[in-house]
Amino acid sequence: MAAVAAAAPFRRMVTPGGYTMSVAMTNCGAAGWVTDRAGYRYAPGDPDSGAPWPAMPETFLRIAAEAAAEAGYPGFVPDACLINRYEPGAKLSLHQDRDERDHRHPIVSVSLGLPATFQFGGPKRADPVRRIALRHGDVVVWGGPARLHHHGVLALKDGDHKATGRARINLTLRRAL
Ligand code: SIN
Ligand code: FE2
Repeated sequence: MAAVAAAAPFRRMVTPGGYTMSVAMTNCGAAGWVTDRAGYRYAPGDPDSGAPWPAMPETFLRIAAEAAAEAGYPGFVPDACLINRYEPGAKLSLHQDRDERDHRHPIVSVSLGLPATFQFGGPKRADPVRRIALRHGDVVVWGGPARLHHHGVLALKDGDHKATGRARINLTLRRAL
């Protein structure tokens, strides 16, 4: 992960509405999720450098495939990994992951460092949400009928974690293309 961030540094991207996200992001894999004034999309390279995103580490592929298989989605081969870095106060409002081409593939999320509260709702933004505490090493998989359910992360509480310092890192492994 340090090698990915050295090649493609974390950056706070701008939403189509002009809001600078509190979560800093980078990517690895054949495609990376980006947002700017033009919209949300998957891009083959880092728009900041023009270079392709760093390759997906073998360990990421293995963890994603094992977690997906255990959740009932065998044969998952992600081609995109969005890496989110939350510092104290950073949050991700309720959204759907819908920029991927084929929503039959699940999403695998790996949490590292400081704990956070994950919100998991339903197909409509106003649907009730469950709050799930995510700690270092937790893996969440959503797919099938829940694939397009809304989800988000509440503002990160301050703390210090031996793996990440004053931050939470989240990997979401996706099949984008
Ligand atoms: C995401 O929805 O892309 C990230 C979720 C998380 O940080 O747990
Ligand atoms: Fe998401």
